[in-house]
Amino acid sequence: MKSVSLERLQRLVTILSDGRFHSGVKLAQILGVSRTAVWKLTNKLKLWGIELFSVRGKGYKIPNGLTLINGQYLEQQITANAKLFSSVEVLSTVDSTSSYLARSWAQGNGEGRIVIAEHQTGGRGRNGKTWVSPFGTNLYFSLGNRLPMGLSALGGLSLAIGIGLAKFFNQHTDRKVKLKWPNDLLVDQRKLAGILVEASGDSNDNSFLNIGIGLNWKMPSNAQGIEQPWINLSEILIKELDRNKLLAQVLLALDDILYDYIENGFESFRSHWAEYSAYYGEPVVLTSSTGTVSGIEAGIDKMGALRLKMDCEEKTFYSGEVSLRPSTC
Ligand code: BTN
Repeated sequence: MKSVSLERLQRLVTILSDGRFHSGVKLAQILGVSRTAVWKLTNKLKLWGIELFSVRGKGYKIPNGLTLINGQYLEQQITANAKLFSSVEVLSTVDSTSSYLARSWAQGNGEGRIVIAEHQTGGRGRNGKTWVSPFGTNLYFSLGNRLPMGLSALGGLSLAIGIGLAKFFNQHTDRKVKLKWPNDLLVDQRKLAGILVEASGDSNDNSFLNIGIGLNWKMPSNAQGIEQPWINLSEILIKELDRNKLLAQVLLALDDILYDYIENGFESFRSHWAEYSAYYGEPVVLTSSTGTVSGIEAGIDKMGALRLKMDCEEKTFYSGEVSLRPSTC
C-alpha cells in the first residue's frame, strides 16, 4: 500500500508540473496539511532532483514545468499494439526498475510487464556503475518477459537491442546515433542512452529477460555525479516529440526488436553492426578486469563478442570497456 506521504508528494508534483506559481497556503489547503508540512514536502521533491523555485509572496514553482508519465496512455498503446507485452506500471520513485522487476519475477509476476519510474534512488548501470536518475527529466524503464529460448541463445540479444534502438533513434534525428560495444548509444561520443540486460533461467529452453533502459531526455545541465559526457534526445530531434509519445514509440520499437530476435535470431541485427558502430575500423583500447589490450575494431562475431585485429592475429572478447585509442602523433 502507498504511504500517505508518497501520495501527497505525487499530488504536489502533479500540481506543480504546470510550471506556474502555487502559493503555500493554497497547496496546504489542497493537500490537507500545514504550510510547514508543504515546505517539508517541497524539500523532499528537491531530493528527487526536481528543480524548484520558491518566492516569498508567490509560492512554489517548477521552472518550465514537467511532462509527467501518463500510465493510462502508455498502457492503452501497449495493449493495443504490442506483441509481447501486456501491462504497464508507473512508479513515482523506486530503487531501480531493473531490481523492482526482478523482485516481481521472483514473486511470479514479471511476464510481459513494463515498469517505468520518474525517479530512481539506486539506478544501476553496467559494470556496477550508478545510473543518475533525477525525477521527471529522463526516461527510466524495464521490460520483463519469459523467452522461449535458453540462456545460451541470448548471446547477441543485448547487442541486438542496441542496434535496433540505434536504428530507431536515427529515424528521429539527423545527428548520427552510434553504438559503443556492447550497447552504449552515443552521439558525437556523448552518451544518449544505456542498456542493462539481465537474464536468468536455464541454458536450454526457458529464460527470464529483464531489459533496463535509461534514456537522457532533458537531463538538467547541472546534474551531479555523471562520469561521462552525455547528450539529451530532446535537443537533437528533427521534430519536437511529446515525452509520453516518445516513450510509447520506444517501447513499441523494443517490442518489435525482441519479436524479430525471437523469430529470426541475431544475424539480421549483426549485419548492421558496421553501419552503427562508433569505432568500426578504428584503433581502440579494451579495458577489463584482466588488463588492457589494443587493436583495430573489426566488428562482432555470432555471439556478439568484440573482434579486435591485433598485430598478427584477430581475437574476440566477451567483456570490457571500449575506448578510442588516443593518437600518438
Ligand atoms: C549502462 O549504460 O551502464 C546501462 C544503464 C541502464 C540504466 C537503466 S535505467 C532503468 C533501468 N533501471 C536501472 O537501475 N538500470 C536500468
